[in-house]
Formats: sequence, C-alpha cells, structure tokens
Amino acid sequence: MNEEQAFISIKDKIFEKKKLDVNQYKENYLKRRLAVRMRSLQILTYSGYLSLILGNEAEYDLLLDKLTINVTEFFRDTEVFNELEQAILPEIMRAPGRSGPLKVWSAGCSTGEEPYSIAMVIEETAERLGVLNPEYEIYATDLDPAALQKAFIGSFEGRTLNNVAAARKKRFFSQAGGTFLVSERLKAHIKFIRLNLMEKYKENFFEIVFCRNVIIYFTRELQKTVLTHYYDSLKPDGILFLGKTETMLQDLRDRFRCINIKERIFKKI
Ligand SMILES: C[S@@+](CC[C@H](N)C(=O)[O-])C[C@H]1O[C@@H](n2cnc3c(N)ncnc32)[C@H](O)[C@@H]1O
Repeated sequence: MNEEQAFISIKDKIFEKKKLDVNQYKENYLKRRLAVRMRSLQILTYSGYLSLILGNEAEYDLLLDKLTINVTEFFRDTEVFNELEQAILPEIMRAPGRSGPLKVWSAGCSTGEEPYSIAMVIEETAERLGVLNPEYEIYATDLDPAALQKAFIGSFEGRTLNNVAAARKKRFFSQAGGTFLVSERLKAHIKFIRLNLMEKYKENFFEIVFCRNVIIYFTRELQKTVLTHYYDSLKPDGILFLGKTETMLQDLRDRFRCINIKERIFKKI
C-alpha cells in the first residue's frame, strides 16, 4: 500500500470507528494535525500509523484530540464583545414586542470561555437596560467531549483570566487559591451539548449564533453546509458572529448582510 492509500485508509477507519467524516476538514489541516500525533509517537509514515490504529482502539480518541484545536480565551477579540454589549444586545433587548428568553448558540464553544463571556455580557447589558432577572439560554456545543467536560465544570486557572476585568472576576467567579470557579448564576443559563457541526442541529429560533474560529478548518463545501444551518437556525434578523479571519461565502451573501466588517458580524436577511 502506498502512502496516499494509507492516508485514505486512516480517514476511512476514523469514519468507521468514530462516525466523523474527516474528509470535510481541509486536507492541509488534517495532514498537519495527523503529523503532530505521528511525531509524538515517532512514526514517520501513514502506513506505520495505519498499522498502529488497526490494533489500538484508544488511539482514535488521542488522534481526535489532536484534530480538535481547543485554543480559546475569555473575551477573545475584546472588540467583538464590546459590539455585542454596545450595539447588538441593546437592539435585540429593546425590540418592540419581543418576549421569551434570549436564545444564543455558541457553536464550537471549546472549554467554555466563549459562552461564559457571552453570559457575563448579557447579565451586564440587561442590568444597564434595567432588566432585573434577564431570561436567556445559551446552547454551547462542541465535538470534543473532554473540552465540554472542562467547560461544564467551569474551573479556570487565574492566568487564563487575563482579559476578565477585576469587577467581572469579583461578580461572576468565586476564587479558591489560584483557581476561579464560574458562578452558579451564569452556569444556570448555559447548556453544554456534544454536537458535530457536520450534522444539522434540531434547535432553532436563535437570536444570536457565535461560531468563531471553527469553520476556518472546514472545506468550502462544509462551510456552506454549516453557514446554511446557521441561516435556518436563526430567527429573522438574527445575528451571526464569525471569527476575525473567517469570511462569509460569496454564495450566501444574499442570506446574510454584513453589519460590521471588522468584527465579522452578519445579520440574517
Ligand atoms: C479554536 S476552537 C474555537 C473556540 C471558540 N469558538 C473561540 O473562538 O475561542 C475550535 C473548536 O471547534 C471544535 N470543532 C472542530 N470540529 C468540529 C465539528 N466538526 N463539530 C463541532 N465542533 C468542532 C473543536 O473541538 C474546538 O473546540
């Protein structure tokens, strides 16, 4: 078997064992992540790696762990959260006749810093607008169960809270030594759910979708599928946040209008 065939067989095995179609990740990205795992095992060829996974069920999870890059932080790109606070949330919360909980989806939430940041901003904005007990639900989804478990626990080392202002730390966390635990008040509004974005999510009627720094790893076809899912999952006039280096596909420009090019914020048409 040559190297290209071995690479294809590895992808097929992952699909067979984990039901994840890794052909939908950009090939360069997939090869780079696979190389990271192979290097740590000192394996030089795809054929060598294929022989290893064929006899080692646990290896699939270790490989998937390398595939899902969980890098994230609280208030990642602070300007985005300023826009959420100053422009997006006031417009939604003050819309005439709106009722029911504010529904937000954090898609590809990793270890939880993004949905917790959104929750802090909702609490503060509601207070500023005179809403006493804001009703809101954040659906925070990710493929990676280990990241979701960490998110659910909500315990963070102090050094990871660099972007969290002192007043926010005091209000939304309890501190034990160098560790900060997210308050139950915030946690009560967030559901952490395992979801592969290659599959359609049954939840809909979201007012805001955050999908930041996730689709960058996907092929164009999967980007189109996922962005179309967001379109279907959003309420009319719903808002979509993409990552700083992500763009709206040309094919979908009649479905989403860009309302802030710098922060990559779009409104459903
Ligand atoms: C770089 S993190 C982004 C975290 C956060 N949104 C942010 O911007 O800081 C990318 C996340 O996407 C998740 N991910 C990758 N492929 C996915 C898929 N097919 N379905 C759902 N989540 C996926 C990874 O597990 C990872 O937690």
